[in-house]
Amino acid sequence: MENSDGELTENILKLKKERNAIILAHNYQLGEVQDLADFVGDSLELSQKAATTDAEVIVFCGVHFMAETASILSPDKIVLLPDIHAGCPMADMITAKGLRERKRELPSTTVVCYINSSAEVKAESDVCCTSANAVKVIESLDAEEILFVPDQYLGHYISTRTDKRMSFWPGFCPTHIRIQPQYITNLRQEHPQAKVVVHPECRPEVIALADEVLSTGGMCRFARETEAQKIIVGTEIGIIHRLRKENPGKKFIPASEQAVCPRMKLTTLENVLWSLQEMTPQVKVPEEIRIKAKVAVDKMLEIGRG
Ligand code: 13P
Ligand code: SF4
Repeated sequence: MENSDGELTENILKLKKERNAIILAHNYQLGEVQDLADFVGDSLELSQKAATTDAEVIVFCGVHFMAETASILSPDKIVLLPDIHAGCPMADMITAKGLRERKRELPSTTVVCYINSSAEVKAESDVCCTSANAVKVIESLDAEEILFVPDQYLGHYISTRTDKRMSFWPGFCPTHIRIQPQYITNLRQEHPQAKVVVHPECRPEVIALADEVLSTGGMCRFARETEAQKIIVGTEIGIIHRLRKENPGKKFIPASEQAVCPRMKLTTLENVLWSLQEMTPQVKVPEEIRIKAKVAVDKMLEIGRG
C-alpha cells in the first residue's frame, strides 16, 4: 500500500533531522512540497539561503540550475535534486561553447547571465542576475555594451529600464510564453478592480499590460502589501498555492491555467523521501568550473535584491 502524504511528510521530517538537511523549495513547486519545505522562495532568496545555511545537506526542490548554484556557493555540502531530470528548458537553450563563440564576435561586450543557466555558462559570464535584481545588476556595471543570456524577454524588459546598449541571446521560457496578451485584456475586463502582476520572462506585449513586473518573491511581497483584493497573476501557476495560503482574504486569478512548468512538477513527496534515504541524485559542480562561476554569482549576491 502507498503511503499517505501525512506519512510521507513524517518520514521525510524524521530523516531530514537525522541527515542534518534543509529543504529549499521554489515558489513553483507542488503545494505539498512547498508545505514541507523549510524555506520557499524565488531564485535569489534560495541562493542566499543556500549560501548561508548550516545544514550539511541541501535538498533542492526546484530545477537543476538552482541545485548547481547551491553547489557553487556551498561546495562542502551535499546537494540533492530529487529528480535529476528536473532541468530548465530555457537554461538548456545556451551552451558554454555557443557563448564562447558569440563572445569572440563581440570582444568588448560584458556578459550578464540570468541565473537560469548552467554552471558552465555562468563560468563564461562576467556577472549573474535573477529576475529580482536584473535591472540593478545591469545598472551597477561600468560597461556600456552588454550581452544578456539566455532569456531574450527578460533582456528586452531590462533594456526598457536602462540606457546601456544590450544584445540578447534568443532563449525564452516555454512556460511564460504561453501567457498571451489577450488573456490579460480579457481578465481585466472581467475584473476591473484587479491589479495585474507579471513575471519579466513574459513577452513584451504582456509586460506592457501589467501594473507590476516582479520576480516570484516580489509577487509574494506585493500581494501582502497591496490594498487590492484581486490580483491577476502572470507567471507559473505553482505560485498561486503560496499566494492563497499567505493571503486568505484576497483573490488570485492565474493569467493562464496553461502556464505550467512540467520540470518544476517532477519533484514529489515520494522522490524527496527517496533522495534523503539514498542520498542521491547529487548535484556537484566540478571545481574548475565552480571557481569561475562563483565569481559571477558572488558579484550578484553582493548587489542583492533590486
Ligand atoms: P524567480 O522565482 O527568481 O522569479 O524565477 C522564476 C523562474 O522561472 C525560475 O525558474
Ligand atoms: Fe525554466 Fe521557465 Fe520552468 Fe522557470 S518556469 S524553470 S524559466 S522553464
